[in-house]
Amino acid sequence: MSVQTAPRRHVTIHELKRMKDAAEPIAVVTAYDATAARLVANAGVDVVLVGDSLGMAVLGYESTLPVTLDQMIHHAAAVRRGLARGGGHPHLVGDMPFGSYQASVDDAVRGAMRLVAEGGVESVKLEGGQDYVPVVQRIVRAGVPVMGHIGLTPQSVHKMGGYVVQGKDSEKAQQILRDARALEAAGCYAVVLECVPTELARVVTGHLAIPTIGIGAGPHCDGQVLVLNDLLGMDPAFTPRFVKHFATVAEAATAGLTAYVAEVRARTFPDDAHSFHSKSVRLVPVPDAAGDDGEEPQGGGVMGAPV
Ligand code: KIV
Repeated sequence: MSVQTAPRRHVTIHELKRMKDAAEPIAVVTAYDATAARLVANAGVDVVLVGDSLGMAVLGYESTLPVTLDQMIHHAAAVRRGLARGGGHPHLVGDMPFGSYQASVDDAVRGAMRLVAEGGVESVKLEGGQDYVPVVQRIVRAGVPVMGHIGLTPQSVHKMGGYVVQGKDSEKAQQILRDARALEAAGCYAVVLECVPTELARVVTGHLAIPTIGIGAGPHCDGQVLVLNDLLGMDPAFTPRFVKHFATVAEAATAGLTAYVAEVRARTFPDDAHSFHSKSVRLVPVPDAAGDDGEEPQGGGVMGAPV
């Protein structure tokens, strides 16, 4: 049975604005390959994010910092192919990884264009507030929509001193509001608020005409985003406060794999239903590399049974 609540329409950045204005919650989820893309599209998500969480979720890094632009493009292109075969038409956004936009505006524009041209994304996301206004403006001017990302910005983990909730005092909260307004004025079509107090996220959301997408930012944002692996419970040990396991995929996968290993060892897999047959065929001996041993294969050279 295919479970499909696929979105009916192509979700553009204009559709996301309409959803904010109509107070329709926006569901965003990450994906890193074609299989996941099909699943999330068929589930009816509005936006698929090829996040640089790729580094931890898929590539086995400790942080997002080592992820390269080439890796982002490689995975974005896989997600794009998967969406083409999925049931819906979510918007596809890709992360600009660490080092691809901080050093110069020209780098940033070139990187964003590569993500669109080679990765097939429709917009890019980058981390940072007021300081990144010139970068956002130039990318938008080049024709690429930009999603902002403020609050906890994982690419600045060393500057923040860890993955800690941001904007907890008046001064820091004020700066986050300033950052959000600056990104909107610079041309961002949406902004991610990561790990900020619910109260602050509510105020920011009320002050912006563009959608806010929360992660660890409470229920008052215009949309929510979670990392696919987290919401599916692919690592049961990873349970930060803002993650809810909507499925227990790790348990199901471990049960399936354990059963497979047991059946291989017991020689009960593959059984006849999972095997192929041919009519009787005759084989001639195959000499080994050192020379012809001249012997018929065991069993008289006849292989197979009539099907
Ligand atoms: O990289 C990512 O997946 C993200 C989301 C968690 C917002 O930036």
